[in-house]
Amino acid sequence: MCGIIGFSGSLEAADVLVTGLEQLEYRGYDSAGIAVQSKQGIQSVKAVGNVGALKEKLKEKVFHGSCGIGHTRWATHGGVSEVNAHPHQFGKITLIHNGIIENYKEIWEEYGAGKTLVSQTDTEIAALLFDKLYQGKPEETIKKAVSILEGSYAFCIIFEDIPDIVYCVRKVSPLVAARAKEGSFVASDVTALIAYTQDYFVLPEETILVLKQDTLYLEDLDGNQVEPEMLHVNWDTTAAQKNGYPHYMIKEIHEQAEALRNTILPRIKDNMPNFEAEQIPDSIFKGIDQIKIVACGTAMHAGMVGKVLLEKRVRIPVGVEIASEFRYQNPIINEKTLVIVISQSGETIDTLASLRLAKSKKAITLAIVNVKGSTIARESDYVLYTHAGPEIAVASTKAYTVQIAALVLLTMRMAYVSGMSDIEVIKKDYELLKLAEEAVHISLAKEEEIKELTNILKEKEDLFFIGRGIDYALSCEGSIKLKEISYIHSEAYAAGELKHGTISLITEGVPVIAIATQESVYAKMISNIREVRARGALVILITQEGVEVEPSIYNYHLTIPKLPDEFTPIPTAVLLQLIAYYTSVHRGLNVDQPRNLAKSVTVE
Ligand code: G6P
Repeated sequence: MCGIIGFSGSLEAADVLVTGLEQLEYRGYDSAGIAVQSKQGIQSVKAVGNVGALKEKLKEKVFHGSCGIGHTRWATHGGVSEVNAHPHQFGKITLIHNGIIENYKEIWEEYGAGKTLVSQTDTEIAALLFDKLYQGKPEETIKKAVSILEGSYAFCIIFEDIPDIVYCVRKVSPLVAARAKEGSFVASDVTALIAYTQDYFVLPEETILVLKQDTLYLEDLDGNQVEPEMLHVNWDTTAAQKNGYPHYMIKEIHEQAEALRNTILPRIKDNMPNFEAEQIPDSIFKGIDQIKIVACGTAMHAGMVGKVLLEKRVRIPVGVEIASEFRYQNPIINEKTLVIVISQSGETIDTLASLRLAKSKKAITLAIVNVKGSTIARESDYVLYTHAGPEIAVASTKAYTVQIAALVLLTMRMAYVSGMSDIEVIKKDYELLKLAEEAVHISLAKEEEIKELTNILKEKEDLFFIGRGIDYALSCEGSIKLKEISYIHSEAYAAGELKHGTISLITEGVPVIAIATQESVYAKMISNIREVRARGALVILITQEGVEVEPSIYNYHLTIPKLPDEFTPIPTAVLLQLIAYYTSVHRGLNVDQPRNLAKSVTVE
């Protein structure tokens, strides 16, 4: 939540900051602002709305300077307004912040006497604190401030009397930095830096980063120089652009076959899943007596698929936990528990807190993460990276299917290691996984058909998804995808549970997207579909090809290729993503930036 960027170098800072903010916009788009150190002092411009609104304002106000900071906001503390937009200025301090300062009241009480605030933000109080502590030595000021500040933060700070230097510090909230020939850069995410370099580092916590025009350096809170641990991204600027597609979401939907290949292939040796390269030993799969999968949002829905797969094939109890609940429930876990945390960004605060809790209880932790070097990836015992490349649209698509692929690979390895499946079965599984990956193209080929049929959804106010087993997990994902970008109220229901209440909402013309790809419960699903049809539901049915379906039970019928039950989620997910995407497009909404949402949730 909130994207931040800082720069000191040889280019016009305003250009670098605005271009970087465009890449970070997925982190929030309530307001945006920049501050640049110019000959006339620090000058800032802020606008309510996304970076486009800021760019409009910048047309009227040109200023030159090669050092500055920029921010795109997802409002937490204080409403969406220009005064609450960052950067915030107090005395000699101008800063931007990602995170939440929990003890802002105490700070205000202690340091605010006689002062006036212009905003309703915790950030302005942090600026006041920095200003109060500042006596000409930025590093000393930051050290004192971090000993007082409680909560999570990534700050980029410029001082009125220190030209061309940006100071940064963080706790929990992410910051990455890089040096390139154009100067020194810092940002919430590497996508903002990729136009200049593919080599970067994650700013360690309790470290001060100093960005100068011709160098950058790190020091710890005792003043010792710290050597950054360099990372490299193997994608370039084109991967983070729309490349001719109207929205990032549809581009990312189309990238799934490649993302799946990139995630699966490096883990295959002799047609078997193998995690030697990531140093995940088989020993961690032995001797465990339960698995907990912990995640938020779409990642949690991938976990629900994982639970069905693991319990079916490995016969071990698996619990899927919402991270924001798990962290406060004193969960029953110990050294015999494998905790799998799933996160695209690797920064989601509740998932991170759950990981830390699991570690404190001595559980074995394994993270399935997309962003290299992210906090969750660095802190978990083992990491299985998904290789989806950058995902920019707020609605997650390719990150979800690769998370499922990673869970399939884990299931296969664990089934083999535990002796539940022999080598021939696992090799056959790999063939099926390849078929599931190829089936993405078959689902994508239905794009026009889905574009057409979603015309009937665009005027609807309520919608239901139903399914059983894996298809219930898919229903949850289909429903969240549709509601977050189309603003149509939608619910996912386990098909058999529908008659325990929600069927009362099924009336003439209410759409029900019925996912019936699971052969094992197919007959039961058909009965449930008849029940909603009998009450007038408009049914969009998804099944495998070749199954017998009576035309009277559906209005529209979509199919995926014939596959064993465990391998259906990937092609099914693509159909559901296209349904959500085109419904939003037909309603004329901002697909990539749905209201009130942000991609990376770094606050509780
Ligand atoms: C936000 C995003 C979702 C995402 C969830 C978890 O809500 O909008 O798309 O699934 O966070 O994010 P993570 O980065 O941990 O997968």
